[in-house]
Amino acid sequence: MANAASRPVPRPGVLDIQAYVPGKSAAPAGVKLHKLSSNETPLGPSPKAVAAYGSIAGKLELYPDGSSTKLREAIAGRYGLDANRILCGTGSDELLQLITKAYLGDCDEGVFTEHGFLVYRIAILAAGGKPVVVKEKNFTADVDAILAAVTPKTKIVFLANPNNPTGTYLPFDEVKRLHAGLPGNVLLVLDAAYAEYVRRNDYASGLELVAESENVVMTRTFSKIYGLANLRLGWLYGPAHVVDALDRIRGPFNVNGAAIEAGAAAIADEAHVASAIEHNDKWLAWTTVELEKLGLSVTPSVGNFILIHFPATPGKTAREADAFLTQRGLILRAVAAYGLPDALRMTIGSEEANRLVVAALTDFLAGKA
Ligand SMILES: Cc1ncc(COP(=O)(O)O)c(C=O)c1O
Repeated sequence: MANAASRPVPRPGVLDIQAYVPGKSAAPAGVKLHKLSSNETPLGPSPKAVAAYGSIAGKLELYPDGSSTKLREAIAGRYGLDANRILCGTGSDELLQLITKAYLGDCDEGVFTEHGFLVYRIAILAAGGKPVVVKEKNFTADVDAILAAVTPKTKIVFLANPNNPTGTYLPFDEVKRLHAGLPGNVLLVLDAAYAEYVRRNDYASGLELVAESENVVMTRTFSKIYGLANLRLGWLYGPAHVVDALDRIRGPFNVNGAAIEAGAAAIADEAHVASAIEHNDKWLAWTTVELEKLGLSVTPSVGNFILIHFPATPGKTAREADAFLTQRGLILRAVAAYGLPDALRMTIGSEEANRLVVAALTDFLAGKA
């Protein structure tokens, strides 16, 4: 007999998950929308990627290559990697989920930092594991605190480098120190979704560490600098034994043909990536300085977004700023879910969008409508 008490119940942890809430994407009627809430590129994808995407239109009845061979070879060629150690996925989100599913079981612990990317918590809980959250220092991951949180139950340490939503990063020496302090059975996941934007000599995405270790994986995405978020495409580089394990549990055709074609064309268009970097360098610096001139504090960022801190004074709060900006079609990201209720995250947008945000916040802080 069916009754409420006998209905199927999700495994422990699933209902503790707060479903991921994507950045807002709507503006009031009649107002031009500037979506600065999901760290998408204002330059869009490479025209060559768009053309390659279109080449699949006449082949929609065919399954894609289940191994994403063309794309893995394009990535391997670009970075000088072994294509057999690359795995592609439906966004790096899928890869983070696969890693957790394969390496973390019931009651195992997954470690990440206080303002770390929300998907880590979701993936750990979905696998039945326990999220262990480590304090940051100055909105930056703290290697000693991470190492102190590792126990015999720890299976994975996630590090977003640079981190979203803070925009801060750990120099490569610190990443190596973190790795050196971890037991060999703990998998270190370096999430380098914003690596292409970083302009610091002491930064490395982690490819070198992956190459020489048995317990480090690096994930990357086509959603940010490559402008292909809509296609859902990411990749990882890992030790052969890790790639083999993940390959066994992924969906047989987890990457669609349009994404494979567009991704391969995008990675070959280095000029397009260079112009995205140039745009970001210029406007990241400009926007940071202009907002600081308004008296707002901005966490120094190496990514394509900034974390803007607002005072607690009524009339000047992050929540009120968000509502004010939204009225003008400027959609930023509220980051209370990341433990940052007094801040908003702004993607570096087009020149027009960046100037409009600065003008709007000037008015907001001056109490003008
Ligand atoms: C740090 C970080 N990792 C991973 C992702 C997921 O990217 P995607 O699934 O689009 O590849 C994001 C997206 O916002 C991110 O900020």
